[in-house]
Amino acid sequence: MTPHKLSARLERVAAQVPAGARLADIGTDHGYLLVALMKRGLISAAVAGEVALTPLRAVERSVRENGLGERIAVRLADGLAAIEPGDRITAISFCGMGGETIRDILVRDKARLGGNQRLILQPNGGEQPLRRWLMDNGYRICHEELLQENRFFYEIIVAEPGEPTRYSERELYFGPLLLQARGPVFVAKWQRLLRLKQQTLAGLARAQRTLADDALEQQVRWIGEMLATGGRAPA
Ligand SMILES: C[S@@+](CC[C@H](N)C(=O)[O-])C[C@H]1O[C@@H](n2cnc3c(N)ncnc32)[C@H](O)[C@@H]1O
Repeated sequence: MTPHKLSARLERVAAQVPAGARLADIGTDHGYLLVALMKRGLISAAVAGEVALTPLRAVERSVRENGLGERIAVRLADGLAAIEPGDRITAISFCGMGGETIRDILVRDKARLGGNQRLILQPNGGEQPLRRWLMDNGYRICHEELLQENRFFYEIIVAEPGEPTRYSERELYFGPLLLQARGPVFVAKWQRLLRLKQQTLAGLARAQRTLADDALEQQVRWIGEMLATGGRAPA
């Protein structure tokens, strides 16, 4: 992957950034997403936020080598501390971090959200707690997609502030829009996860079950029911 050739995962994220957006990419690492979007003329301003020094040096280099030092502000910062009010950010992306990490940043830094930004999230796991935060904080999920790159599945969740929406526990787990669409990648993901979770459960001695194991049992039941009912899982 280079800023000129994004991975399929980051291409799909890029497709969710509105034309002309003022984008903050938090946990930007190499900064390829911002550099690619800026070079394509698709965003009008950018902030690259990164908490660790080695990736910060990497994004600084990408920005410099592409002559974008005037257009992309690179900041060493934890979470949304990278954003300043004068940036007038209209979209924020968080990609390649755990869903719980993204959720924790949003909880801690909520006051730094402008209340009108599109959130473009590509969590690596932890999607359910992240969706719950969105629901509890006045965001409506307007797009979800699932892609497979090599042997990994990636979810992209796009949310905007909007009318309060309630999602069922199963919708929070599977993704309300993914569940509705039930595409072939979605089915393949959950078939694989069902096998893995069933194997884990089978290896557990019943007498030593913990609460986490009960949650696993519930997930196995939900996935089995969802796959058996053509994706229309009971609420
Ligand atoms: C796996 S990389 C993902 C890089 C890139 N966003 C992508 O999707 O290809 C995650 C990056 O998030 C950064 N990160 C983790 N926690 C962060 C935080 N609280 N604030 C800013 N950056 C953070 C890490 O230092 C790391 O560079």
